[in-house]
Amino acid sequence: MKTESQAVVRPARNIRGSVRLPGDKSISHRYAMLAGIAEGPSRLENYSTGADCASTLGCMRSLGVKWERMPGGDNVIEVQGRGLWLTSPTGALDCGNSGSTMRMLSGIVSGQSFTSEMIGDESLSRRPMERVIKPLSAMGAQISSREGRPPLQITGGVLKAINYKMPVASAQVKSCLLFAGLFVDGETRVEEPLRTRDHGEVALRAFGVHLDRKNAGAGTEVRIRGGQRLRGVETRIPGDLSSAAFFLCAAGLFPGSQLTVPSLLMNPTRARLLDILVQMGLRISVTQLEEINGELVGSLQVEGGKLKGATISGGDSAALIDEIPVLAAIAPFTEQGIVVRDAKELRVKESDRIAAVATNLRKMGAQVEEFEDGLKIPGGQSLHGAELDSFDDHRIAMAFAVAGLRASGETVISGAESAAISYPAFFQTLEEITER
Ligand code: S3P
Repeated sequence: MKTESQAVVRPARNIRGSVRLPGDKSISHRYAMLAGIAEGPSRLENYSTGADCASTLGCMRSLGVKWERMPGGDNVIEVQGRGLWLTSPTGALDCGNSGSTMRMLSGIVSGQSFTSEMIGDESLSRRPMERVIKPLSAMGAQISSREGRPPLQITGGVLKAINYKMPVASAQVKSCLLFAGLFVDGETRVEEPLRTRDHGEVALRAFGVHLDRKNAGAGTEVRIRGGQRLRGVETRIPGDLSSAAFFLCAAGLFPGSQLTVPSLLMNPTRARLLDILVQMGLRISVTQLEEINGELVGSLQVEGGKLKGATISGGDSAALIDEIPVLAAIAPFTEQGIVVRDAKELRVKESDRIAAVATNLRKMGAQVEEFEDGLKIPGGQSLHGAELDSFDDHRIAMAFAVAGLRASGETVISGAESAAISYPAFFQTLEEITER
């Protein structure tokens, strides 16, 4: 049974302070999976604290991988890799709310010589899995589903190489197929139509896998040879940029804000948010840039300013897919507003994020235009607090906690506990840096 909790957000005057983010969710998932199929131990520091990444660890344990959370406050996970061959799970693999777990792990279980059942919660059970079922089936896995949705029943085996042009720009699908490519006799080639986050490629290389990557049109082509062995890593996971987005946008709401964010992920396939916020008028400086196992990390100094507007479309919509909800939630407070197009993928995330944003903004008194693939939100609006719903979606809960800081009166968000999917300490941390 799920316990619903409400968050009450009161208007703020300023954002000020320093926030150290838990490890990036996308990287944590991939490291946990690859550490499980690597040879030898791995040590993952600053592993994501989110429930989604715990779901991945839970599934890896069900597949016979031993791991341990180390004592101390640094979220260290030590994993005993088993090599490529996992053990048949005794029950279903529970992916919880995590699309990343189900989609990426399906690539690994497709290479195993047993049958796995993958299940998820109500939200995950509505999400499209055809995008992995089709190419994995072409590789030779036998997969049944509920009309392209979870639960999935996957019988793996010896896979064959494919040359696959992904119809949807999805980093999860790209990683899934590259992971499946490890079990193939031959070379798998995956091409994406637009550039998406490259943590799968970067992580595979960190575990010693050789792959070839080149630009292909607006996207990337990646080739991987099967049969390569992975070796364990010791690494520190950079702070989650998509979680930091909420605080950066909060800082953008108040010209006097000052925020420091140390050790944040700066991977160029994720950092488009910083360009957009700078173009809008936020002052951001980056220091202490370094590379950790192929991932760029840096420290941010942020100063609020008056925010202009922005148009997000084309490749930017894919690059900003997780940050669009919070950008849209602060759009009414910008000078020219925000237009989002080419983002229909938002309709099949943990909730229909286009509808969720439009519904909540309207409840706060905002004018919003909704399109099948986006939103148009005029700037220069004044909003009032309202009773809002998270739609059981972590990013909607957090986006509207930010919007509530600039509304008049109280904003009450039901289902606020969903923030724990990616960032359990979010509300507490937001409170710590909010001045009233
Ligand atoms: C993710 C990719 C994105 C993103 C999700 C995490 C990943 O999804 O929305 O939160 O870790 O690869 P798609 O690229 O599949 O749309």
